Amino acid sequence: MLTKEDNDLICRIGPGTPMGNVFRRYWHPVCLAEQLPHNDCDPLALKLLGQNFVAFRNTEGQLGLLDEGCMHRGTSLALGRVEHCGIRCIYHGWKYAVDGSLMDVPNHPDPGYMQRQRARAYPVREAGGIVWAYIGPTDKQLPFPNFPFLELPDEQRFVIRVNLHTNYLQNLEGGLDSSHSSNLHSDFFRPGWNTSTVNNAMDDSAPRLEVEDTEFGYHYAAFRRVTTEDGKDIENVRIMPFILPSSRIIPGRRRRSIGGGTQGVIDFFILETPMDDENTAAYMVLYGDKKIDREGALFQLGLSDERFWSTDDYTYKATAGNRWGQNRSVMDTSWTGFSGGIYIEDAAVIGSMGAIADRSGEHLVPGDKAIIRARRLLLEAAKAVAEGKEPRGLSTDFKGLSAFDGDLPANQDWHQLVPGHRHLVEHS
Ligand code: FES
Ligand SMILES: [Fe+2]
Repeated sequence: MLTKEDNDLICRIGPGTPMGNVFRRYWHPVCLAEQLPHNDCDPLALKLLGQNFVAFRNTEGQLGLLDEGCMHRGTSLALGRVEHCGIRCIYHGWKYAVDGSLMDVPNHPDPGYMQRQRARAYPVREAGGIVWAYIGPTDKQLPFPNFPFLELPDEQRFVIRVNLHTNYLQNLEGGLDSSHSSNLHSDFFRPGWNTSTVNNAMDDSAPRLEVEDTEFGYHYAAFRRVTTEDGKDIENVRIMPFILPSSRIIPGRRRRSIGGGTQGVIDFFILETPMDDENTAAYMVLYGDKKIDREGALFQLGLSDERFWSTDDYTYKATAGNRWGQNRSVMDTSWTGFSGGIYIEDAAVIGSMGAIADRSGEHLVPGDKAIIRARRLLLEAAKAVAEGKEPRGLSTDFKGLSAFDGDLPANQDWHQLVPGHRHLVEHS
């Protein structure tokens, strides 16, 4: 459990808050590249960490990210005209370049005035189908992270954005929680849950967890025992990295594992990006060594159903008011009543906790070990920053970062499956 004070400390990310200051040390997604589809396209109002911005793509294709309010008297620049290599406020015509310099101030008689003023412009990059920004202190800007999916050809990567009315920590904890897969996602992971006697690793809903701190946050291994049809006892291992401040990789299942390489695997790199305390943009990057079947992926997630989500505005549509879209009439064949749509199952359970979950009455169990460690790392970072110290995990070199889900042969050390992970603590 978390006290109300610690819960506030860890969840609130607005300007000036300790956790807000931690998040401001990292690069974050601000929108999909497709939301700024061409030069001089419509500007985009967006929200990151409780602050309002405007993003635009100028006549030459360069991206700009400015505070949304015009520096003259605060009109939203998202109403502005994007023209001739700048964005012009429609109220009195002040015009800004992507670097924040003023190109025109038509209601001031002194032409030198605009040379002396400048709007704050934020570093912005386009990579992997995402527009990224850094809004933290200028003198502490980290190099751009080399996440493993960024260099892949477009067809091997599929980015989905979903805006949820929940605090980032709920989403993050859902993703770090291995034990829920054996229940919540029974339709997907244990398709014979109501008919078959065949064992599956996911039938073990009390996995044993080993959690270790790493340079980027931590990684954990969840071990599940399973007896195969021919009576063999095997152990399945799922290794998941948590990347500070709010990302993780969910591994796709390896058809072949140690020594044999892998084939046709899709991993999910998920960045839970706080728009404000109660709204989070989840950027799910599906990536792998083959062309991604985008329609199939959306279907599996439950997101091909427009009652739940569409690319019109990326907002998750189901709410408590319609029971999150649950269909109770199919619960004899569907464990949840969501017919196996993985993401809509996740969205329902985390949304049902309220926008910011109250963690003061929880009853945590050994299966929650990874969640407890994530909270600890985040609280340590918030406290360090509040004391004027550097938070741990300001890592930007992600070469070798990976995840794994597959069978673990007897006597195999699981660390060999993620050889690129650097440890801060020794493992025995
Ligand atoms: S408020 Fe934008 S130009 Fe006046
Ligand atoms: Fe889930």
